[in-house]
Amino acid sequence: MTVLEVLTYPDARLKRVADPVERFDAALRGFVADLVRTMAAGPAAVGIAAPQVGRLQRLVIVDVSTRPRAAGHGRLVLINPEITAWEGHAVGREGCLSVPDYTGNVIRAECIRLSARDEHGGSVDYEMEGFEARVVQHEMDHLDGLLFLDRLVSRRSDLFARRDRGKGS
Ligand code: NI
Repeated sequence: MTVLEVLTYPDARLKRVADPVERFDAALRGFVADLVRTMAAGPAAVGIAAPQVGRLQRLVIVDVSTRPRAAGHGRLVLINPEITAWEGHAVGREGCLSVPDYTGNVIRAECIRLSARDEHGGSVDYEMEGFEARVVQHEMDHLDGLLFLDRLVSRRSDLFARRDRGKGS
């Protein structure tokens, strides 16, 4: 397994729309293992998306289980994910491995339902809320070339320089 290089803003590759995964093979599972390793190497990272390492495929990994008080499903490998239902909204602070120097306040749906494939091609469905739902929405944005910076209502009031540089998702 390898720790991959994480692209950082304003790398133009972070702005591109990723393609669906079509082959669920050993090469894909090898990439998932590398991405898991890369996420684990990022300080306090709770998620990562394939485009962040320059691979334009619709694949994200989310794991909020390391965060106290963040109920979740453990480590999720979500391939070709689609959100099928939304409910409520909330403002919360987000960071990103690709935007290491800032955090920002972003409005997200509070509860979501989603469908995806796992790394073996099987269908998976989840209902989630709160922090885990937020992280999934953040990671799925990467698949459409969006960063949390693109979701700020106001850069002046919702963007914050990090003092503890390095946390992210
Ligand atoms: Ni991110």
